[in-house]
Amino acid sequence: ELGPYRHFMQKEIHEQPRAIADTIEAVIDNGAFAPELFGADAAEVLRDIEGVQILACGTSYYAGLTARYWIEAIAGLPCSVEIASEYRYRTAVANPKHLVVTISQSGETLDTMEALKYARSLGHDRTLSICNVPESAIPRASRLVYYTRAGAEIGVASTKAFTTQLVALFTLTATLAKLHGRLDATQEAEHLDALRHLPGSVQHALNLEPQVTGWAERFAPKDNALFLGRGVHYPIALEGALKLKEISYIHAEAYPAGELKHGPLALVDEAMPVVVIAPNDRLLEKVKSNMQEVRARGGELFVFTDEDSHFGPSDGVHVIRAPRHVGVLSPIVHTIPVQLLAYHVALARGTDVDKPRNLAKSVTVE
Ligand code: F6R
Repeated sequence: ELGPYRHFMQKEIHEQPRAIADTIEAVIDNGAFAPELFGADAAEVLRDIEGVQILACGTSYYAGLTARYWIEAIAGLPCSVEIASEYRYRTAVANPKHLVVTISQSGETLDTMEALKYARSLGHDRTLSICNVPESAIPRASRLVYYTRAGAEIGVASTKAFTTQLVALFTLTATLAKLHGRLDATQEAEHLDALRHLPGSVQHALNLEPQVTGWAERFAPKDNALFLGRGVHYPIALEGALKLKEISYIHAEAYPAGELKHGPLALVDEAMPVVVIAPNDRLLEKVKSNMQEVRARGGELFVFTDEDSHFGPSDGVHVIRAPRHVGVLSPIVHTIPVQLLAYHVALARGTDVDKPRNLAKSVTVE
């Protein structure tokens, strides 16, 4: 069942080009973003929404955080994202014109299910679930559904479920943008094209595996690591830190790079590896000055960038380049190297990669 792979996690990381292609198949075949992709009465549910409330846990929550950048920038709708276990126990103000989106690989996470029920009890009747398991509890309790087609995910640490959630959320964003008159035919064609090319770009990122393996030995003896990103890549830093802590048991924290000076810089010294997600986007110059702040304190930098960013390795600065910057879908491509890093560091430390201690694949209790 594992084929050439040592663990399900490694296999599932490598399945991502296929999982993404399967998840976007319906959109590509349709040749357009259309509400019907989310359910028969989706046009009616989505047309006059005034905002989006995303609810999820763990990695699925980070997919939601990424989507917020897209939904506000591309669809022009206000979007909040909240951890389901927090939302369900606080007194929230509901706006029935907001769409409640739950994200869950398993479709059985108790807190996410309860957050959905709570939202409904507050008067939210426009509900949409992004889920990987057909007919599981959360999609059954939602009016609209988009199924990711990652296939069964066996490794406890979520990999292909996350990147397929992201393409589903991007599809939702573009569909909302179109319904709200914010996507013209040219932009729609560009987004469809970007999706069509994504499996290939993810494959190129997977080809970086030997380079990432080269970093793993340096990480293996560390006790702590810091992950930095800005903008839409900040949630990818969070996901990278979560993957590393889950399977290698190295304590890892992620921060938006602009927050360094507001506290975490105090932790940086020669012993602290700092992983930076630094693609060639409009925030790159800001990220570079954050990297200088780290180097000035002796921190060792491990930078994931892309080909057109024009900066290379130097003393204490290691650089791995993904292929050409892919624009709006860049966070999906940049997820691959952080997954590979966590995997190879865990291998070097000899942990149980597919079944990390204390964790369960599906969290059906509080
Ligand atoms: C992390 C991980 C968990 C899940 C979380 C939500 O690698 O797998 O953080 O993402 O338990 O699970 P689902 O998506 O099934 O609701």
